[in-house]
Amino acid sequence: MCGITGFTGKEPALPFLLQGLSRLEYRGYDSAGITLVNSKKLRTWKTKGRLAELEKLLQKDLTQSCGIGHTRWATHGVPSNMNAHPHMNEACTISVVHNGIVENYAVLKEELIKEGYHFHSETDSEVIVQLLDYYYSKKPVMKDALIKTVKRLEGSYALCITTIFEPNTIYVAKKESPMVLGQSKEGVFCASDAPALLAYTKDIMPLQDGQMAILNKNSLELFDQNGKSIQPKFIHFPYDIQAAQKGGYDSFMMKEIHEQPDVIRETLRGRFRGNKIVLPKIDELKADWNSISNTVFIACGTAYHACIYANSLYQKYTGKPSSVIPASEFRYCDPNVDEHTLCIFVSQSGETADTLAALKLAKAKGCTTIAVVNVLGSSIARQTDAVLYTAAGPEIAVASTKAYTTQLVLLHVLILKLAELYGIKVNGISRLIKDMKRLPELTEETLGYEKEIKKYAKMLKDQRDAYFIGRQLDYPSALEGALKLKEVSYVHADAYYAGELKHGPIALIEKNTVVIALATQPEIAAKTISNIKETVARGARVILITDPDMDAKEFKYVIRIPKMRPELMAIPSAVLTQLFAYYAAKEKGCDIDKPRNLAKSVTVE
Ligand code: M6R
Repeated sequence: MCGITGFTGKEPALPFLLQGLSRLEYRGYDSAGITLVNSKKLRTWKTKGRLAELEKLLQKDLTQSCGIGHTRWATHGVPSNMNAHPHMNEACTISVVHNGIVENYAVLKEELIKEGYHFHSETDSEVIVQLLDYYYSKKPVMKDALIKTVKRLEGSYALCITTIFEPNTIYVAKKESPMVLGQSKEGVFCASDAPALLAYTKDIMPLQDGQMAILNKNSLELFDQNGKSIQPKFIHFPYDIQAAQKGGYDSFMMKEIHEQPDVIRETLRGRFRGNKIVLPKIDELKADWNSISNTVFIACGTAYHACIYANSLYQKYTGKPSSVIPASEFRYCDPNVDEHTLCIFVSQSGETADTLAALKLAKAKGCTTIAVVNVLGSSIARQTDAVLYTAAGPEIAVASTKAYTTQLVLLHVLILKLAELYGIKVNGISRLIKDMKRLPELTEETLGYEKEIKKYAKMLKDQRDAYFIGRQLDYPSALEGALKLKEVSYVHADAYYAGELKHGPIALIEKNTVVIALATQPEIAAKTISNIKETVARGARVILITDPDMDAKEFKYVIRIPKMRPELMAIPSAVLTQLFAYYAAKEKGCDIDKPRNLAKSVTVE
């Protein structure tokens, strides 16, 4: 995720670009940059760090009335001055800002290098400006060059381009990354999201996939990939800026819950070729995979729950020994790891002190290390032998939601890759991959249960405790559901293997106790159902999350997850328990995005 702004009009562009970027910093904030155009040259300023760092570089009296801006959340190449956008061609005549991922950038880069082009950054985005330069050099019509360029791009993009050839014009293109346009008496604007525009206009046009636009001082032309004209359609946005920054939701947590279909799609992008798993970073490791005798998953908090899930999958798919250790325990439990051990570290921030310390110990013991991280270039990402990035984008709410589900998805892909490298055939892999590709739409479908969840969350109003139960792959979902509820609503919650209830915790079940029961694994669901009945018999109110085929007539509150391979059910389960925690917290009037005593990133032991 990145934030883009563009302005051309009668007034200076800089104030709009900066206020727009500040409204979009929730989309990324590891570097920022702008290009301003005058009739003779493009002037670009860019820097690693937040927008405030960029502002320090700028003079206040910049009066150019056409420009583009970018605030970055790195996906290809660490946050650095060189990798920051805008990117320019060699002659500094074209400037581009990009949000999205160019999947085929390596092929395009090779092609362009053969044509004599030089690259200066590690980004996928730089190929876009060089391609534009290439096509423009063949026929100097920018609209044609843009159409030809986007036809070559695989993946997602929102682009904003300015050139010296038409100093008052901005070119815009969009596919699978957001872009909105607006017009007011000051000029014509574009941005990644409406909050950047709302101070100027509330009539906004979201660009559709495949559409492109040419913005001029007081006109706006829309066209499709064949250059055919399209009639612009504006929508009136009723939100104020604050609400719009949260996408109209009342908290970042809720917004991030609803972003999950998109970020899961991004995380899975380009990972499959037929039944083969595409993870070049793991191939490049060149480890002696047959000498790996033991695998350990290590993380804290929510990421630790993702590890418990991954550990079960790993054993199921590979049949090899593995374990999971909380990072905060790793250093103190004298872990039995050596050069034949693969250690997999999971972290949203990539900065968690315990996880980092565990990584250092694993490296000292000669283990092979892989990280699954969200923040590009973070400490954990830099220090492992190979790093895979979830594409969750910045997670602002303290309670992790979209980072967790993207971790589940990426760990799943990684484990399939490891099975492939060990030469192990995973049963039903075609069906599994087919369902994984459907995860974005299945997650969307799951979000459709929001109304029911909201109603059920009211049951917690006068309750001090809640219990989450599940077996096998439902167990990490139970743990994560309980953690989420505790974090944001302060309702005490515990998670148990369903079969463990009668060995103690059932003593706590009484009339009206709320039990969230996860029974999504068909092979074992009947056993879980009988455990649930034990709680109902003692007066518990049970909310059952199960698959579409389960016989659940006797239960009053049932949510059926869409049909998919059981190994994937943990993803919709997580979405449902996140919604449950959110509505419980809302019911109790809690500060949902900033729960008491918690920090987003725990950088001390
Ligand atoms: O950044 P990390 O994923 O390494 O953070 C680990 C935990 O601190 C984090 O998951 C924490 O448990 C969250 N508050 C969960 O919502």
